[in-house]
Amino acid sequence: MVFLISLCIALIFSLVCGDSLKKNPVPFYIGTVAISFLSIVAAWSDMAMPAVITKWFIPIVAGGGLTGALFVIVMYAGAFPNRSLGAKTFIPLRGPLSIIASINGLGHSIAYGLSYYKKAMNGFSELSTSLIIFIVLSTIMTLIMLPLFITSFVSVRRKMKAVTWKKLQRTAYVFYALLFVHVMMLMVPPALKGAKGYDITVFVYVFIYLSYLVCRVAKATDATAEKLPRRQLVLVSLALLVATTTVAVINANVKKPKEKLETEKIEQAADLPATNTLKDGTFTGEGMGNNGTIAVEVTIVDGEISDIVFTKFSDDAEYFDVEKDGKEMIDRVLQAQSADVDTIAGATYSSEGFLSAVNKALEQAGQ
Ligand code: HEM
Repeated sequence: MVFLISLCIALIFSLVCGDSLKKNPVPFYIGTVAISFLSIVAAWSDMAMPAVITKWFIPIVAGGGLTGALFVIVMYAGAFPNRSLGAKTFIPLRGPLSIIASINGLGHSIAYGLSYYKKAMNGFSELSTSLIIFIVLSTIMTLIMLPLFITSFVSVRRKMKAVTWKKLQRTAYVFYALLFVHVMMLMVPPALKGAKGYDITVFVYVFIYLSYLVCRVAKATDATAEKLPRRQLVLVSLALLVATTTVAVINANVKKPKEKLETEKIEQAADLPATNTLKDGTFTGEGMGNNGTIAVEVTIVDGEISDIVFTKFSDDAEYFDVEKDGKEMIDRVLQAQSADVDTIAGATYSSEGFLSAVNKALEQAGQ
């Protein structure tokens, strides 16, 4: 969902601000630096923030949604048939859009990447193979993006030989491929486990990349670019996009059996006694996470939840880091004095397993 919204924002921005962006791009670059910086601060902050910041601003700006959407537009611009409306609209915007996407991509790498690099510094032996591959590929992708970013500035481009510049720009194809792998490595595992929303992102990215490949190959071979009935092609593409997104949205909203079970357990929490009727003491509870049981100890003092600690946890740290995400969930429960709180985006199963464990402990305290 974050990606679809980011794509809408990026498209509206390109169409509404396109002319100003071509004429005077610098204020837009400064604006992107400022917004990206704010998103990093928000993503790293421990302060409680309004839902619009945690649910939308951070995932879209710091979480990679916007950078992905802008790069998709830059990539697609090169696939429109020559002299078509798409080519006329987006090709002149490719340079400024890729600079904005890169600035935001760097912000995202800092906001989300640093914690991964910190883990890597402690030794690769503590990381799973898939996480090591993810970190290595993400780093290569960022390194490929840097020269593309710098040479997108007109002043730098003018100083380069045209042939050298064109050769360098070809590495963009490797970058696009790595971007696809990056998103798939992140989104496919939770989508397969039935986590809500991830399948939409997978569907949309697969659709965009497949249709890009078809259009780009057609343009490169020049066999079909002129002969294709363009209006029909656009209609078929739009129909496919609407169909895949509809299937994905329906699929994402149909509760999977496990998810349903966990939700029911959490809904039962609403029937629990108010926390001030809770008995003082330390109570234990268990819930089901991704890889197994999550166990917690909940301490009640003066009828209030005063402390929660994890006593058992075996989920992968790349989805739910007990030090960071676990602390965040504990803070949410302590603040709300209830287990009826939002889960962490991207770690639905682990969060729900944790909340279910807290509920079990609270049930005992309420007896
Ligand atoms: C050129 C640099 C990069 C680009 C263009 C990029 C792009 C993206 C995109 C498109 C997404 C999916 C966002 C969505 O649709 O919700 C994403 C998510 C993510 N990326 Fe990157 N990325 C970059 C660098 C990195 C690096 C270096 C790391 C860490 C080593 C990283 C870690 C992540 C993580 C953890 C997520 C998931 C965020 C979430 O849970 O919401 N990215 N990135």
